[in-house]
Amino acid sequence: MTHRPSLVSVFAPATVANVGSAFDVLGFALDSPGDTVVARRSSTPGIRITSISGDNGRLPLATDQNTAGVSVLALVSDYRTRHPNEANELGIELSLTKGLPIGSGLGSSSASTVAAVVAANELLSVPYNRSELLPFAMEGERIACGAAHADNVAPSLLGGFVLIRSYDPLDVIALPSPQNAWIAVVSPELELKTVDARRVLKRSVPLERAVAQWGNVAALVAGIYQNNIELIGRSLEDTIIEPERAQLIPGYHQAKSAALTAGARGCSISGSGPSVFAICQSKSDATVVAGVMTDAFRAAGLGAQHTVSQVNTVGATIISKE
Ligand code: HSE
Repeated sequence: MTHRPSLVSVFAPATVANVGSAFDVLGFALDSPGDTVVARRSSTPGIRITSISGDNGRLPLATDQNTAGVSVLALVSDYRTRHPNEANELGIELSLTKGLPIGSGLGSSSASTVAAVVAANELLSVPYNRSELLPFAMEGERIACGAAHADNVAPSLLGGFVLIRSYDPLDVIALPSPQNAWIAVVSPELELKTVDARRVLKRSVPLERAVAQWGNVAALVAGIYQNNIELIGRSLEDTIIEPERAQLIPGYHQAKSAALTAGARGCSISGSGPSVFAICQSKSDATVVAGVMTDAFRAAGLGAQHTVSQVNTVGATIISKE
């Protein structure tokens, strides 16, 4: 049996889920921001969350009510079936540091969940590989918004662009990451719960819209493989989800229009919003685009924070272990 660490610190990045047209099936990771989790081995059996910082006291410490806690419980429960002697004695304490705003559409719950699962996994004598951790991380999403979608957790865990072809059975495909893509991300100061942003969606879709949507999703994947930022940008077009969710985000249409006028190749809602992302061909373009989108939200009466990032190709990262 190899020596395992007793304390592990892991960073997991923010993510842009949906990527415009590809609702629930595509997402990519950003370099920053992200959340950090420290997992520490304890002599007292059980999984406990000992502290959470950066959330203004809003997230539950109870393991079975916290997305990160639920995912680590799912991991340990599975581990117990494989290694009952070790798992029954297992004690893990988790300490979460939020770098991501809650309800921002940047995969806040996923980043904590992924960081927690990756950190806890490192404490196990027989750790799982990265892909095997995905179903456990998805359990956190189930309690966060009622649907175990993977388009945030998969890219946060694995890095890059990740496609979920099927949920049952789970079929996850890592795509190449376009070089030289720069992403402007603007987060208006408005909290939107994913569960609420899913509730506004229509349950059925006219055939014409479905045809337009799968044309865009297919072209988006082609653009990613061709490293064609222009094609990726125009394939973000979403005629099904965006019209419903845009109504929840004051200033969205103005921000998108300003982004496209300022040189963005495409723009859409990040995840379930309210953050907005725009894909650009250079860092300087992305910086200008982030600024004009921020101004548009301010003109609509909302403060906004912005960041510019490339696509993170590595996913969750172990910062230290001892
Ligand atoms: N695909 C999910 C949704 C992502 O749009 O509801 C939530 O961040």
